[in-house]
Amino acid sequence: MPRCGTAKSRGGPVEFYLNGELQQCTGVDANMTLLRYLRERLGKVGTKEGCASGDCGACTVLIADADDTSPQAINSCICLLGSVQGRQVLTVEGLEQDGELHPVQQAMVDCHGSQCGFCTPGFVMSLAGLYQRSLAQGGETPGRHAITDCIAGNLCRCTGYRPIVEAGQRMLTYPQRGIFNEPATQTGAPDRDDRQPLVGGAQRYYQPRSRSNLRAILAVEPGATLVAGGTDLALEITQRYREFEVLVDISAIDSLATIGEEDGYIRIGAGVRYHQLMGHPLLASTPLDGLLARLGSEQVRNRGTIGGNLANGSPIADMPPVLMAWGADVEVVNTLGERTRYPVEDFYLDYRQTRLQAGDYIEAVYIPMHLSRAPHRFYKLSKRFEDDISSVMCAVSMTLDGGYVLGVRIAYGGMAAVPRRASAAEQQLLGAQLTDAVIDNACTSLDNEFQPLSDVRASAVYRLDMAAALLRRALRALRDGDAPDVFELGEVSHA
Ligand SMILES: Cc1cc2nc3c(=O)[nH]c(=O)nc-3n(C[C@H](O)[C@H](O)[C@H](O)COP(=O)(O)OP(=O)(O)OC[C@H]3O[C@@H](n4cnc5c(N)ncnc54)[C@H](O)[C@@H]3O)c2cc1C
Ligand code: FES
Ligand code: FES
Repeated sequence: MPRCGTAKSRGGPVEFYLNGELQQCTGVDANMTLLRYLRERLGKVGTKEGCASGDCGACTVLIADADDTSPQAINSCICLLGSVQGRQVLTVEGLEQDGELHPVQQAMVDCHGSQCGFCTPGFVMSLAGLYQRSLAQGGETPGRHAITDCIAGNLCRCTGYRPIVEAGQRMLTYPQRGIFNEPATQTGAPDRDDRQPLVGGAQRYYQPRSRSNLRAILAVEPGATLVAGGTDLALEITQRYREFEVLVDISAIDSLATIGEEDGYIRIGAGVRYHQLMGHPLLASTPLDGLLARLGSEQVRNRGTIGGNLANGSPIADMPPVLMAWGADVEVVNTLGERTRYPVEDFYLDYRQTRLQAGDYIEAVYIPMHLSRAPHRFYKLSKRFEDDISSVMCAVSMTLDGGYVLGVRIAYGGMAAVPRRASAAEQQLLGAQLTDAVIDNACTSLDNEFQPLSDVRASAVYRLDMAAALLRRALRALRDGDAPDVFELGEVSHA
């Protein structure tokens, strides 16, 4: 059996299709981003670099699997080059055909959607993704909400958004033309030995396709750092100038990216991306979609995974409070294949410290089916409606029997060094008749239970006030059977 790679393994080349042409990338380092490769190695400077942190959308490109023609918009600035192995990438340079602008580009021209033009390729690529999805669904013009959703991760400082939205409304009125029409011929990817590094040398990038090969690599590379979507990790490279010696990309392990039912649980693989969770039938009875519509932008949701959100250990990540309210477990696997399940609240030890040891990875989360169906409310407070991290995140699940609290789980993000349950408030509520006075007492108890920090997002006082206000709102709404608030559903009008 061939051994796993070492520092001497040369690896490579990374192969992908760019605007239909096979690229074989040699001499690249493991920490290189797709954007850097496009601009610095290939001179494809149509794709811009603004923030290099996933916030502005200037670097948006479309990617699709080699055998697939449905593209997804991503931020190339926080996409590691190795992660596009075997895939198709479309940049703004690939949109024109025979000297003719793509309908999205033509619509931007006709609607005066560009002034200085810096943001324009990014907007065009985001709209091109929507254009292609609309074509696949019959070619109808998308609604205003779909258009604003698709460009929520793109910033423009001079044109203003109205003409850009108009371009989105007009783009399908021109003679229609698809992109990624032909699935690309497979690259050398299928017969690659995925225990060897894709990028070798002093800095190594692995991309295993199975969990057993992942474990084998982690066993010989104890200092390895995992990368899934890279929407947290790549910022370490682009913002803090860190260089990882060994990166192990789990995005090609299909068995980590499935959602299903198992022994009374909803099992969500750690590699499941937000866009896969949205609209999933197993979670249809929950308000999760409304929350996810506010998690990052479309570009971020197309890459970010649930496992990355948990493992990153951020106190302001959105999924941990939700999973705690659902009573979910997180399953950790070590290099020997031994599995341990922790309730999500026990997974966090301290600020950015989790139960994960060197060589461990998160395989899945398990949500008890019955708890996923209990009435609940998720509230996210952030400075901006879209594409912003929470100042306070509150998730509440409660079952009542004749007005008495039979079960309750309350969890917060942004209120402590780790995402945490409000155990004292839960104790006060459990078994009590849910009067306004009982609700007020539970809300007041938060003052003793949490000592949040003041930072750029919010002051400690504001956080405590908001935590109480959100809890009061959730408990009353669950007691009175109110329909979820419109903002929970992400249905706010953008007019
Ligand atoms: C513009 C922008 C907006 C964002 N908005 C939000 C937001 O609104 N809410 C929010 O919660 N987050 C937000 N994020 C953060 C990020 O998108 C999420 O945390 C995402 O879920 C991370 O997943 P990933 O797959 O990209 O993780 P990665 O960046 O690939 O990894 C993150 C960390 O987890 C580790 N890791 C990944 N997968 C595993 C695994 N299976 N087992 C063990 N370790 C693993 C990695 O080693 C790394 O340390 C935003 C990020 C950006 C750039
Ligand atoms: S450069 Fe701003 S999102 Fe990539
Ligand atoms: S046209 Fe100048 S930033 Fe958008």
